[in-house]
Amino acid sequence: MKKYIVRSFLIFILLLSNTIVNTQQKPTIAVIGTGYVGLVLGVCLAHSGNHVICADIQKNKIDQLSKGISPIYEPGLEELLRESLQKNTISFTTDTAQAIRDADIVFIAVDTPTKTSGESDLTALINVTHTIAQNLTSYKIICIKSTAPIGTCTYIKELIKNSKNSSCDFDMACNPEFLREGTAVHDFLNPDRIILGTDSEKVSSVLREIFSSFCPSAPVLTTNFETAEMIKYAANSFLATKISFINEIAHLCEALGAYVNIVAEGVGLDKRIGKSFFLPGPGFGGSCFPKDVTALLHMAQANNVDLKVVKACLDTNDAQKMHVVDKILSHCNGDVRNKTICILGLAFKANTDDVRFSPAITVIEQLTAHGAQVKVYDPKAMVTMKKVLPHIEYCASVEDALAKSDMVVIMTEWEEFKKLDLEKIKNRSHNPIIIDTRNILNTTTLRNLNFTYENIGNAQINSY
Ligand code: UDX
Repeated sequence: MKKYIVRSFLIFILLLSNTIVNTQQKPTIAVIGTGYVGLVLGVCLAHSGNHVICADIQKNKIDQLSKGISPIYEPGLEELLRESLQKNTISFTTDTAQAIRDADIVFIAVDTPTKTSGESDLTALINVTHTIAQNLTSYKIICIKSTAPIGTCTYIKELIKNSKNSSCDFDMACNPEFLREGTAVHDFLNPDRIILGTDSEKVSSVLREIFSSFCPSAPVLTTNFETAEMIKYAANSFLATKISFINEIAHLCEALGAYVNIVAEGVGLDKRIGKSFFLPGPGFGGSCFPKDVTALLHMAQANNVDLKVVKACLDTNDAQKMHVVDKILSHCNGDVRNKTICILGLAFKANTDDVRFSPAITVIEQLTAHGAQVKVYDPKAMVTMKKVLPHIEYCASVEDALAKSDMVVIMTEWEEFKKLDLEKIKNRSHNPIIIDTRNILNTTTLRNLNFTYENIGNAQINSY
C-alpha cells in the first residue's frame, strides 16, 4: 500500500512538472499586421495549438475578426478563424503595444509597399519597431515575416538595440513567407521549405519548435539574415521570369503556328525545368510579383548591379497586358467605340478577391480609353474592383454580362468560366467573339461551334 502511495505521488509530481514545462514551453505569439500573410500566419498558428494575439491598427478589421469574419476571401481561413476563436487560442486587438508586452515571440507582418521610386516603403515596419523598443518588458524573439529589402533585419536589430528603453534582451529572425493567395492556408500548412535567417542558436531552436507544430516534415534552411531576405526576392523574381518567358514563347507560337500549352508541357517534362508555374496568360499581377521584382531591381541599381533578365521580365509583363488589348482591338479593326465588351474575371488570379496589379485593370482602362462600353463580372472580386474602377458596368452574373456583348474576354481562370455553356452562348441572337487569355475553354468545342475565337499562344488554332 505504502509502495502504491509513493508511486502515485511520483506519477502526480511527474504529471505536474510536465504541465509546468509545457506551460513554460508554449510561448505567447504576437502577430503584428493582419493582411494576407499576418492573418493566415496567426490563424494557422492558433489552429496548430499555439496561443496567438493578432494586432492591427485598423479597428474595423479587428472588430470583424473578433466576430469570426475574415476581411479577405481565402478558402478555409474563416473556418479555422472561428474554430480558433472558439478554442480561445486566438485573440485580436488594436493595442499593438499590449500585444508585444504579452508576447514571447513577435512576428511582424505589416505592409512593405513600393514607393514610386521602386524602393520598398518601410514606414509601417519601422513604426512597429519603435513600439517594440518601447515595450520590451521581457526577453523576446522578433521575427520579420514581411518581405523587406536585404539588410532590413540587421537594420531593425540595430534600431531596437539603440532605442529600447529597458535592459531586457531580444533576438532577431527573418522568416519569409511563400504562401500564395487563393491557397494561402494550404500553402502555409504545407510549405515546400521554411527559410530562417538568424544569428542565434536559441532562436533557431525555438522557431523550429513552432514550425514543427504545423508542418513537422518541412525542411528548414537556416542561414544569415541577408541570405534569407534574398531567397524571397530571388524566388519571386525567378517565378515571375518563368511566366514572362512562357508568355514570350506564346507570342512566337502565335506567329509560327505552334501550340504553347503543348510546348510548355513538353518543355516542363524536363525535371530541371518542371511543369508547374509555366502557364501563359495575360501577364502576372498580385501584390507580390510586381512589387518584389521592382524592389529587387531597385536594390540592384542602388548597388550598381545590372539585372538584365529581371528587368526584361517586367517589360515583357507590361507588354503582355498590351498584347491582350491589341488582340481585342484587332478583332474590331482598331475601333471599339460602338462595341460592348464583356470582361469575365477581375481578380489577378482565381480563388481570390484581390485585384491589386490585376491585368484586368490595364485591359479595362485601355478599352474604356478607346471608347468601348465595358461590362464586367467576377464571382468574388466585384467589391474590390469597384473601389479601383467605379465607373464601369458591374453585372450580377455571367448571363447579365454576356447580354448584348460583342466580345467576351476571359481574364481570370475561375472554375465558373471553365464550365461556360458555349452552345447556349452560340445560340443567342448576339453571339460574341471570344478571347480567352487563360486558355481554359475547350478549343475543339469552340471550333466545332464556329466561334470566332482566340487564346494566348495558339493563334493558328483554326488551321488544325
Ligand atoms: C506569389 C508567390 O507565388 C508566393 O510564393 C509569394 O509568397 C507571393 O507571391 P501570389 O501573388 O499569391 O503568390 O500568386 P501566384 O499564384 O504566385 O500568381 C502570381 C501571378 O502569376 C498571377 O497573376 C497568376 O495568374 C500568374 N501566373 C501564375 C501565370 O500567369 N502563370 C502561371 O503559370 C502561374
